Amino acid sequence: MIVMGSSNMDIVLRVPRAPCAGETVVGSAYDLHPGGKGANQAVAAQRAGASVRLISALGKDAYGDLLHEKLSQENIDLAALRRFDTPTGLAFILVEEGGQNRIAIISGANGDLQPALLPPVNFAHDILLLQLEIPLQTVTVAALRTHEMGGRVILNASPVGEDLGEILALADMLLVNEIEAMQLLGLSHPVSSQDAVAVAVQLAAGRQVAVITLGKAGAAWATGQGKSGLLPGFPVAVVDTTGCGDAFAGAFSASIAAGDSIEYAITYANAAGALAAMHEGAQASLPLRPAIESLMTQYIPADAI
Ligand code: RIB
Ligand code: NA
Repeated sequence: MIVMGSSNMDIVLRVPRAPCAGETVVGSAYDLHPGGKGANQAVAAQRAGASVRLISALGKDAYGDLLHEKLSQENIDLAALRRFDTPTGLAFILVEEGGQNRIAIISGANGDLQPALLPPVNFAHDILLLQLEIPLQTVTVAALRTHEMGGRVILNASPVGEDLGEILALADMLLVNEIEAMQLLGLSHPVSSQDAVAVAVQLAAGRQVAVITLGKAGAAWATGQGKSGLLPGFPVAVVDTTGCGDAFAGAFSASIAAGDSIEYAITYANAAGALAAMHEGAQASLPLRPAIESLMTQYIPADAI
């Protein structure tokens, strides 16, 4: 499968709580972690058992070198990883006590990934996994090329920006969290576990499946054919939720690429997301397939999986 999207250096500050406007809070520690939704999801999918080619962009700077070195340890096909003169993308992440995060990003080299600069990639792959941290036009062109070649597009619509009509129409499978679902539908509150299935049904119209991730509560899903449900999450000790959505998207896509059912893929992805919450950092916290399977078997009777 192909994963196309951003690479960022994550600067992570642990704070007791996020500051209000005009306020300063004193944190306890900071760290640099490899991140970016594209790179994270590529690592997540590869560790979850897929064979991944990553299309992404780094700067020709020290952060770019570091991210490149980390990605090189993952067996991912990096032939389509570009280096530009623009600095490497940066994410500024506040992690509160309890593991909740707030993220602001600067695109940097990710913004240089214009359609014309797309490496001469062969889009003849079964699955293309996308997010929205690189130029929308590039994401759209890649989705169109994948469809031309008979492949399927999985879109993690994150972060939600403007003018998403065309890319949403190209998403065979749509993955969002409770805030992104609210933003896409113009709702006034983040989607709650109670309404999540009904909202997933709305988002699934005209596509194979829509999934709304709900953190601890698991994920609600609906198919375009009218099947729907809620699959519970796995109870774990939460340290840092950064990368959980990427663990979910990568593991879900790896499972779909392996030919699993939608329900199995969501359960597998719920387990991957839970494991990612147990450790600091995005890429550093993404689980390997045996760990995901073992969490599943710990909570689900073998004949029910
Ligand atoms: O989804 C988490 C990621 O979002 C972080 O790694 C950060 O880089 C931002 O892209
Ligand atoms: Na994490």
